[in-house]
Amino acid sequence: MKHLVSTKSISRDEAIDILDVAEDMSDVAGREVPRLPALRGKTIVNLFYEDSTRTKISFEVAAKRLSADVITFSAKGSSVSKGESLKDTAQTLAAMGADAVIVRHPASGAAEVLARSSWIDAKILNAGDGTHEHPTQALLDAFTIRRRLHGDHARGHGLDGCRVTIVGDIEHSRVARSNVWLLTTLGAHVTLVAPATLLPPSVRAWPVEVAFDLDHALAAGPDVVMMLRIQAERMHESFFPTEREYSTHWGLDDVRMRRLPGNTLVMHPGPMNRGLEISSGAADSPMSTVREQVANGVSVRMAALYLLLIGNEAEVA
Ligand code: NCD
Repeated sequence: MKHLVSTKSISRDEAIDILDVAEDMSDVAGREVPRLPALRGKTIVNLFYEDSTRTKISFEVAAKRLSADVITFSAKGSSVSKGESLKDTAQTLAAMGADAVIVRHPASGAAEVLARSSWIDAKILNAGDGTHEHPTQALLDAFTIRRRLHGDHARGHGLDGCRVTIVGDIEHSRVARSNVWLLTTLGAHVTLVAPATLLPPSVRAWPVEVAFDLDHALAAGPDVVMMLRIQAERMHESFFPTEREYSTHWGLDDVRMRRLPGNTLVMHPGPMNRGLEISSGAADSPMSTVREQVANGVSVRMAALYLLLIGNEAEVA
């Protein structure tokens, strides 16, 4: 793997390899000193042009646990707010010797532009680009599902036959896109449930089933129900009549939650709009993996950084 920009180009073997290395990394987290010297001397830049809590901190913790030097750079308060272009910023980071750049950007395709450019020769990790992709989120979701399904025997497994239902604002969701590519590569069956206004037209070409009725989709007994945040900041028109109407039809509320078999996994990438796409009862239930997803995110990001920065050297050695 040269960069981690999209899950579309990841093969099944590569995906399983990342998840297996993440299992090793998670063992490190349980130690008294949860740190490995693997990336000592490497410089990793966290370049965030969009707000983030989980992803930014998670990458920072991951890089530190691997002993890298980490610089976190928020576009607010930097020369970006003075109009400096992505190109100039990339060239500055190159001149400072960055080995990897983790980038979050509101424009779909920004990470790909950096990865293909000659401005910088660092490894590029996409931490979310517009509505396009968020590969480490999908990897941590796959890791979380695999662990819950296979427990201690997870290593080497895909997600064959697992039925995942993704619900909500598909149109604006990079999490949904990255998950569709990755989960199906790993052998899962994915169903998308949303109002027609929140499904992009391109969905017809995706390897998924599409449904409009949430109760019907939940009655089919999926193994995993993944709720998505309503991305109000990306909505410049009205996609549904009212929030109340949305949560009545598409929200995972307490009534729907009670109907689900107790071994169903309830997922959400965060940040959650409690009471809109998910009730507090659902979010905090033992069936919910929300906090596990956050913890697993560190292990998966450690694996991605490790494989990108020294994976190949290790193979050569
Ligand atoms: C997601 C994102 O930023 O794309 N959040 C995250 O990374 N944990 C999902 C979202 O914002 O709804």
